[in-house]
Amino acid sequence: MKFNLTSCEIGPNFKMTDGFIALKSLIYSKNKKLGYSKKVNSFFKEKFPNHFQPEFFTRSSRTGLYLLLKSLELPTNSKVMLQAFSCVVVPNAVLQAGLIPVIVDINAEHFNLDLNTILNSWNEEVKVLIIQHTFGIATDWTDVIKFCKDKNIILIEDCAHSLGAEVIVDGNMVEVGNLGQASFFSFGRDKIVSCTNGGLALIHKNYPEWQARMEKNYSEIKQASLIESLRSLAYICSMAFVLRPYYGLVGKPLFKILALTQIIGDVYTKEEKKGTSKLINAEKMRLNLFPILYFQLTQLKNFNKHRLEIAKIYSEKLNITYSKGSIFLRFPVKVDSSKYYKIVTHLKKQQIILGQWYLSPFIPVQSNSASFGYNKTNCPVVENLIQNRVLNLPTNINTSTQTARIIAKIISEFDKA
Ligand SMILES: Cc1ncc(COP(=O)(O)O)c(C=O)c1O
Repeated sequence: MKFNLTSCEIGPNFKMTDGFIALKSLIYSKNKKLGYSKKVNSFFKEKFPNHFQPEFFTRSSRTGLYLLLKSLELPTNSKVMLQAFSCVVVPNAVLQAGLIPVIVDINAEHFNLDLNTILNSWNEEVKVLIIQHTFGIATDWTDVIKFCKDKNIILIEDCAHSLGAEVIVDGNMVEVGNLGQASFFSFGRDKIVSCTNGGLALIHKNYPEWQARMEKNYSEIKQASLIESLRSLAYICSMAFVLRPYYGLVGKPLFKILALTQIIGDVYTKEEKKGTSKLINAEKMRLNLFPILYFQLTQLKNFNKHRLEIAKIYSEKLNITYSKGSIFLRFPVKVDSSKYYKIVTHLKKQQIILGQWYLSPFIPVQSNSASFGYNKTNCPVVENLIQNRVLNLPTNINTSTQTARIIAKIISEFDKA
């Protein structure tokens, strides 16, 4: 009987060492924590030399996007195009900045938007395009970038799923984050690297005025509260020491207790799920979280190497291929809805919990997509994928090659049935 948890969503990046670092960061002096924030800063400075000094660390990446959009100072009600099969906080950030989201369909092969889906909903009022490397899957962005240049559209990259992935531009492999005028990264619970809550926004060095306005707007938001950062650290400790290793014994009930008592908070507020233009938790990331973020970043290469190793197993056993450069935050597998729940339930019995992206056009599933302008008729591919299903297979460092083989075997057996 297996007791440890394999999951896409429940603290997937955390091991015992992360728990110890979370504990240690409680007793670190302010100077020591500042030292870690400088190391994190240097990490991104080295990775993105064409961007301004990384300084816009926020409580979550949704705030980074909101600040980027607000700092553009576009006329109110300007339009911002983004894809469905995303997170509810992305269109919310657009509304919070006083702009209007235009939601477009996706390409069924790689789950990202493409030039055709853009052209279907395009009009001259669109001033910004947000592209997203869904599930960390790479694609060729050459014609989308050219279109943005021709039409003078600002391109912002949502790299919440894809730190370290490479995509194709003009026949070359380019690391995500370098495609447009700005980009943002998430360090949320189930992202490429995680400190439970966190995000970073970057602006390309060609746009000093945008950067200056961003600095001003960033300086005006407050720091996340101590309590909030302690909850993040408690999440890491509980995941690392009890929840993940003993999920099948005490982990599951403990998880419920921690969620009920709000020690483990929800990732989205009720208002965010409904869709809102009200600003929520727009805060800076607190220093407490930098030691753990730095530790996670030191493992980035290893995490992504492991993700590729696991993805190779799924790819070979299930005969599914995605483009070179993909990093596979999760490995998506399209299945028939009649099989989806059977597979999910079967795996759950073995402490393997698959992810839930995207049971609805925007996560979480309770979100009200119509409230920010999602229109079914404009997005037939998304509707089709929702009516059927996309399994999200785990690829994280806590997913062993043996478990990946079991998952692939179960899926192919159900597929043949
Ligand atoms: C594509 C995408 N963008 C942005 C976000 C928001 O990330 P954060 O929780 O850091 O605000 C998410 C969250 O899951 C996401 O999936």
